Amino acid sequence: MPIPLYLAILSLPHRYKGNIIGRGGLVLIDAVSPATESFPVDFAWGAATSALQIEGACRQDGRGESIWDSRHRDLCQHMRSSGDCVSPGHYHNVEADIQMMKRIGIKAYRFSTGWARIIPFGKGRINQLGMDFYDRLVDKLHEAGIEPFVTLNHWDLPQALQIDGGWANPETRRHFLEFVKVVSNRIGDRVNKWITHNEPWVIAFYGYLLGLHPPKKRNLRLSLMVAHNLILSHWECADVLKHNEGTEVGIALNLSPVFPATTSERDTMAARHFDLLLNRWFLDAVLRGEYPSDVPAVLRDALESLSLPNVGSIEDKTDFIGLNYYSRKVVRHAPQSRILGAAVVDQRQELCTDDGREVYPEGIYAILMRLHREYHARKIYVTENGACIDDKVGKDSAVHDHRRITYIRDHLAFVRKAMQDGANVRGYFVWSLIDGFEWTSEYNRRFGLVYVDYETGRRVLKESGAWYRGVISANSARAAKNVPHHDLLAMTHP
Ligand code: FCB
Repeated sequence: MPIPLYLAILSLPHRYKGNIIGRGGLVLIDAVSPATESFPVDFAWGAATSALQIEGACRQDGRGESIWDSRHRDLCQHMRSSGDCVSPGHYHNVEADIQMMKRIGIKAYRFSTGWARIIPFGKGRINQLGMDFYDRLVDKLHEAGIEPFVTLNHWDLPQALQIDGGWANPETRRHFLEFVKVVSNRIGDRVNKWITHNEPWVIAFYGYLLGLHPPKKRNLRLSLMVAHNLILSHWECADVLKHNEGTEVGIALNLSPVFPATTSERDTMAARHFDLLLNRWFLDAVLRGEYPSDVPAVLRDALESLSLPNVGSIEDKTDFIGLNYYSRKVVRHAPQSRILGAAVVDQRQELCTDDGREVYPEGIYAILMRLHREYHARKIYVTENGACIDDKVGKDSAVHDHRRITYIRDHLAFVRKAMQDGANVRGYFVWSLIDGFEWTSEYNRRFGLVYVDYETGRRVLKESGAWYRGVISANSARAAKNVPHHDLLAMTHP
C-alpha cells in the first residue's frame, strides 16, 4: 500500500529543513558539489527560455507587437540608442548562446516561437524572416547535439488579436492553429517535442481574473472562457502536430501542492478551492477530459455554457505533462479574494528566494507523485524549475550563486526520489538558461544559469551553470560506464 504523501514528506531527512537557505543566509559547504547523480541515461537535462523574455529585436525584421510590448510598453520601454530594446539580445546572439549551452552540456533546450515574430498581426501575412530565425535555431541546436523542445504559446499573443478579445474569443483558437501549422510545416521535420501552451492558468487567471497581466481584466466568466479555449486549443493543436510521425505533444502547467494556513474549517475549504482552480482545473480537463464536478456555486454558474466535448481517446491527446514548479501555496480564507475566497499567504518570512517565494523542494515530489498516482500521467518533464537570486558579478568577475545551486540540487533530489517511487519523469529544465525579462518584474529578477549584462549584452556563466555542467557530465559518465544506481538521497546526504 502506498504511504500517504504527507508521511512520505515527513519521513524525508530532517536535513532538508536546515538545507534551505534564506535571504543572505549561510551557504552549505557541499552546495558546490555535483551531487545529483544516478539519473537514467536518456534523461533530458535541459534549460528553458521563452521568445519574449530573451530575444530583444522587438521592432526588427518585421516582428509585430505582442500584448507585452504594446499597451503597457513594458518590454520596449527601455530603448538603446541602436533602436533595439534593452534585453539579453538573443535574436542577434544565437550562436554565442548555443556555445554557452554546449559549454554547460545541456542535452535539451526549451524555447518558444514568438507568434508576432512569425505572423505579425496574429493572422494573415507570414513574416518569413521571423520563421527563418527559428528554422536556423533548430538546425544549430541539432548541430550542437541539443534536442529542441518547442513551446508554441508562451504568453506573447499578438496585440492585434487582443483587440478582438484575445483568448476569450474562440476565433483566436483558429488563428493559433494556423500559426501552429506554419511552424510545424517549417520545423516539424526536426522537432519531436512540442508544448502547446505555457501555464494556461496564468493566461486565464492572471490576465482575466486578477488583472495582473495583460489584458488586465477582472471577470470570472471571461477567465473560465479563456481557460476553456486554451484547453480546446491544446487538443486541436495536438491533432495537427501529430501528423508528423514520432511527435510528442504536451502542455506546461504551473502546479503546486496547496496547504491550508491553519487547521480551521474555513482555511481548509479555502485550500480545497484553491487546489481546485490551480491544479485540478487543467489536470482534470487535459488528462480526464472533464472539469471537476465538485465545484462551488459561483463556478457552477459561470461554467454553465462551457462543456468539454468528447474527444475520443483522451490519452492520445497528451503525451506528456510539463510541470512548472517553483514553490508550494499556503492558503487562507479571504472572502475578498477573487480566487474563490482563497488567498495565498506570503511565506516571505520563511526561507525564500529573492522574489519572495518560499523554498520548498518537497513540493516538487508531492506534485510529481500526485501526477503519477492520481492522474496516472504517462510521461512528465519538469519544464521549469529554478530560483530568482539577486546576482551580482563579483570583483573576481564571477557570479557566486550558491543559493541557486542549493535550490536546484534539492529539487533534483526530490525529482529523483519521485522517479524511484514510480513517477515517469523524463527530463528536467532549469528556468532559465539566461537572465531575461520577467514579465511584470521586467529585468529586476534573475533566474539564469548565465548572467546577462543588459547594457553590453555580455554573458557570464554563473557558478550554478558550472555546477549544472558537473551534474550533467557526472550522470552521463555514470550512465556510459553503466555504474549501478545509488540511492540519491543517501548519496547526497551521507
Ligand atoms: C513562469 C513563467 C516563465 C518565468 C518563470 C519565472 O511562470 O512560465 O516564463 O517567468 O515563471
